[in-house]
Amino acid sequence: MNAHQKIAFSCSPTSKPVGADARADLLKDPGFGRVFTDHMVTIRWTKDRGWHDAQVRAREPISLDPAAAVLHYGQEIFEGLKAYTRADGSIALFRPEQNARRFRASAARLAMPELPESVFLQAVDELVKIDSAWIPGDEGSLYLRPFMFATEAFLGVRPSYEYLFVLIASSVGAYFKGGAKAVTVWLSDRYTRAAEGGTGAVKCGGNYAASLLAQAEAIEHGCDQVVFLDAAEHRWIEELGGMNVFFVFDDGSLTTPPLSGTILPGITRDSIITLARGEGRTVREARYSIEQWRADAASGKLREAFACGTAAVVSAIGRIKSANGDIVIGDGDGGPITAALKAKLVGIQRGDVADAEGWVRKIA
Ligand code: PLP
Ligand code: COI
Repeated sequence: MNAHQKIAFSCSPTSKPVGADARADLLKDPGFGRVFTDHMVTIRWTKDRGWHDAQVRAREPISLDPAAAVLHYGQEIFEGLKAYTRADGSIALFRPEQNARRFRASAARLAMPELPESVFLQAVDELVKIDSAWIPGDEGSLYLRPFMFATEAFLGVRPSYEYLFVLIASSVGAYFKGGAKAVTVWLSDRYTRAAEGGTGAVKCGGNYAASLLAQAEAIEHGCDQVVFLDAAEHRWIEELGGMNVFFVFDDGSLTTPPLSGTILPGITRDSIITLARGEGRTVREARYSIEQWRADAASGKLREAFACGTAAVVSAIGRIKSANGDIVIGDGDGGPITAALKAKLVGIQRGDVADAEGWVRKIA
């Protein structure tokens, strides 16, 4: 199947949709990742038949053989993107072709079949259309979670011969509780997230499994997220558990860690770089060490820091906690450049700011 090919989706709408009143209740304060829509998309892949059996159907539990390879060797990848209701009432996605492309890259790294980008986009369109009533108003959005895993019942260690692609959707508000003004991050000096030659640059469930003990440590210390250092020298800032990171300096320039192969190439990260450069700012994709972070925060050279990603959008980082003491950034409450970049990005997504880069894809 080539990259532009489409496949036929069968559609069997649920016979038991959530009622309008119950849905309205759920959409009042959805939080993140706990309210789910009525439908899902599934597509199967087998070594003999390739991609087949694409269905839009009722969201329901999946039955798996206990020997399914994913349950033993963790062959699983996922993506995250959002559908928004825009100021003019239309529904749009933000750079979904980038998610489709990264999903293929993740598949390739985990020795899984690559879903054609056109089919990924078709699946997203189908689910958003059938579940559009689940897009919350105001600042909420419909978070789309495509994922794929190995279903073959076989315990030998080799790439599976059978996979299931699934797309589900979740009505979401802010990722961080209370839509906090600035988050606090925990510096993990014991655990790393990814090493050279590993899977840090792709979106596989295993990366997140490996990060959870550090995330638990962060929560224990009253922090929202972990910031990981590199695996080789334990010095260089990599990224947060589920977000990329930017530093903003007193001359208005920005630094973000480079795509070294150990961090996720975030679509939000790429968009922020483009927007900041478009404003005439210098943006360095360069290594930045924890010692420098400490020194620059103390001297005032570092004015702001922020995390960014699809789920978290742009979130100011006010404070880092670590075994060696805390670092406060600026007044600990975020700053104007973070706020302005966030407003521009969200404005483009919502249709309030011109989409000069052609990032928005409306759903027909
Ligand atoms: N880094 C990690 C580890 C992530 O899980 C995410 C979220 O997807 C990001 C960065 C940000 O990526 P994106 O902006 O494409 O959502
Ligand atoms: C996203 O931003 O889409 C993520 O995947 C981050 C996290 C929820 C895993």
